[in-house]
Amino acid sequence: TLGEVAQETGCHAYAVGGFVRDLLLHIKNLDLDVVIEGDALAYAKKLGKKLGGKVRTHEKFGTAVVKLPDGFKIDIATARLEYYEYPAAMPTVELSSIKLDLYRRDFTINAMAIHLNPDTFGTLVDFFNCQNDLKDRQIRILHNLSFVEDPTRIFRAIRFEQRMGFKIGRHTEKLIKNAVKMELFDRFFGHRFFNELISILSEENPIPAIHRMADLGLLRFLHPTLRIEPKLATILEETRQALAWHRLLYLDEPCRQWLVYLLALMSSLPVREVVVFCERFEVPLRHRQFLGREKLAVTRIAAIMKRAMPETPSGMYHLLKDLSPEGLLHLMGLLKKKGCKKAISLYVTDWRQLKPETDGNDLAEMGYRTGPLYGTILRCLLDARLDGLVHDRASETAFIK
Ligand code: CTP
Repeated sequence: TLGEVAQETGCHAYAVGGFVRDLLLHIKNLDLDVVIEGDALAYAKKLGKKLGGKVRTHEKFGTAVVKLPDGFKIDIATARLEYYEYPAAMPTVELSSIKLDLYRRDFTINAMAIHLNPDTFGTLVDFFNCQNDLKDRQIRILHNLSFVEDPTRIFRAIRFEQRMGFKIGRHTEKLIKNAVKMELFDRFFGHRFFNELISILSEENPIPAIHRMADLGLLRFLHPTLRIEPKLATILEETRQALAWHRLLYLDEPCRQWLVYLLALMSSLPVREVVVFCERFEVPLRHRQFLGREKLAVTRIAAIMKRAMPETPSGMYHLLKDLSPEGLLHLMGLLKKKGCKKAISLYVTDWRQLKPETDGNDLAEMGYRTGPLYGTILRCLLDARLDGLVHDRASETAFIK
């Protein structure tokens, strides 16, 4: 259908970028990026109609998103000729627009296209010998100004390298090091960087990428004092184990891995420096508040637990009960003592699910009047249950009496 609509609209349609890369690597990718030589908006509207999908257009950028009822998403963009701020990077004018579109992309592995029009459907478009890099498992930029134009690509290079077990090419690595040396990273701020950081920290195991960032001298751009010292390396590894453990529990509870790693990375920084980081990278307000709150709460709880663990499960419960899942896993990553980890894991798997069997109706039957006392009694019952003083309705009733 994608190709037929292109033909009907009188344009050329290409699948591009990560979708093509993953297709050639036999990796599943459900995000389809389509580039149109022609009117992308007209194409998107027609495609949406034909597939019964919702179309959202951004007239200013000549882009559109078509969302299909089954959740599949197609990003559609116009192949653009004008892109580079730097005339030196401007290739010769007679290049076709798909060629220019591919040339302005981040890495060779992401710069291939597949023609979708019916007469040439499935033809691989590879102007820059990108397939070779895919075979050689190399991450390479297409032109020398790539990182100057868009320094977020440095993060992307590391992410692809670590995710796919590829290697950043020699020349590309040299350009990264040059960019670091030139402090090009004064331009290293804003939400686009933050989004790339989220992507890295969302990879299955982001720790090798974090080490690679450290080796390339990139961590100091996140914060000037950030280094992978043994203490932080241990915290990151403990964090990874806590997240893996939590995943295996199959709890129906969303937990944003990237936030847990970000809290771990920032664990040695005072909270005011986290605020500075958030401002520099335009972190959305909801994340800022979350990071600040959880960091403060976890620091306090970790200090208490290091000094003396609460002696009862109910004591532990009250210490942990206001933490988010991310905060709990961050705390697990910070604490070394086996006993501390064990208590947190019991809280996650058992204690926080506990409730007294007695409820308001039972209290009314016992002759208590509705009022604040209800809450107090039920809280006492919960504590008694956590500490093993009661175990069923009968023992709860006896306890109240
Ligand atoms: N792209 C780019 N420069 C960037 C970001 C993106 O050239 N700074 C191009 C790349 O060609 C990339 C495509 O836009 O393939 C789509 O970007 P994105 O969806 O972020 O990346 P994917 O390659 O699809 O990677 P992922 O599998 O992580 O989504």
